[in-house]
Amino acid sequence: MLRSTFISLSQNQPLRRFSEGSTLGRRVSSRFVAGMEIEEVLEATEALNRAGIAATLDSLGENVSTPEEAQHSAGIYHQLLDAIAERRLNANASVKLTQMGMDLGEGLAEQIVAGLVEHAAMAGTFLRVDMEGSPYTQATIDMVSRLHKQWPGRVGVVIQSYLYRSQADIERLIGEGIRIRLCKGAYQEPAELAYPEKKDVDANYIRLMQILLKSGIFHGIATHDEAMIAATQQFVREQKIDRSSFEFQMLYGVRRDLQRQLVKDGYGVRVYVPFGTEWYPYFMRRLAERPANVLFLAKNFFRN
Ligand code: FDA
Repeated sequence: MLRSTFISLSQNQPLRRFSEGSTLGRRVSSRFVAGMEIEEVLEATEALNRAGIAATLDSLGENVSTPEEAQHSAGIYHQLLDAIAERRLNANASVKLTQMGMDLGEGLAEQIVAGLVEHAAMAGTFLRVDMEGSPYTQATIDMVSRLHKQWPGRVGVVIQSYLYRSQADIERLIGEGIRIRLCKGAYQEPAELAYPEKKDVDANYIRLMQILLKSGIFHGIATHDEAMIAATQQFVREQKIDRSSFEFQMLYGVRRDLQRQLVKDGYGVRVYVPFGTEWYPYFMRRLAERPANVLFLAKNFFRN
């Protein structure tokens, strides 16, 4: 109930305009957003790297409405990729197709993203295409599959364990040698497409994690759920899987204690670091995942 309220609020345009423009909104969002400027996300990445944690950089924004906006968004990613190479950061980038013009035409988005993958390859790094709501699932997978043929190993995708279709998608992607980030899924989906019950999403997560870790391809296990992490660690032990053959992934500002503990225990950890002025929908999805975050943020706000 609270989850769907926050997800609906994440699409509320007047509230979005108000929040993104207000100093208070920016201050509150800073728990989950590394800053408004490129320099801030680079500093956050350097700090993570010093703690032995890799990063994936996300310039916030989605569903752009003109080709110029899409090109502008891509320009920020080109700057990020240059900075990753120049500063030798242990980092790659994560991008959303709707930010690259997907709603305006798949051809436009593919042309822009192809430029980013090529740049990532030249910079010696990797581009992850985030997964958005189910209307984009098939097109996202198909596009990543085409881009991977051109730049093998330089582009990967995200699969959501709440979707019924995900096992079939994973089998196809593994067959093509494509790197996958496994997450539970952050959008509002109908029961015809996605498991409504958390226990089924979790059971599917574990099933899919096991398929990924046996594939011999480097994947990301993205979760803050201690039960999912424990199930992964147990599977790794039982199957004698090399810890360096995959990584855990978490979001900036979420379970920092667990991120550091995993590094201490010898696991690879990558943190998803978002930045930019268009933080509102991302921020609201984080509140949807854990409504208690509202209390947490309020407490910290008054403490500071
Ligand atoms: P779950 O939501 O069951 O939470 C388990 C526990 O983790 C909670 O009880 C709490 O302790 C902690 N926790 C979870 N979320 C928290 C939060 N926001 N604040 C504080 N504590 C929290 N989704 C998507 O649809 N497309 C995508 O491309 C991505 N990409 C992505 C990248 C990375 C690196 C991560 C970690 C996640 C994503 N996601 C995503 C989001 C993902 O689908 C999911 O919504 C969140 O990760 C929350 O799910 P958990 O697996 O953490 O478990």
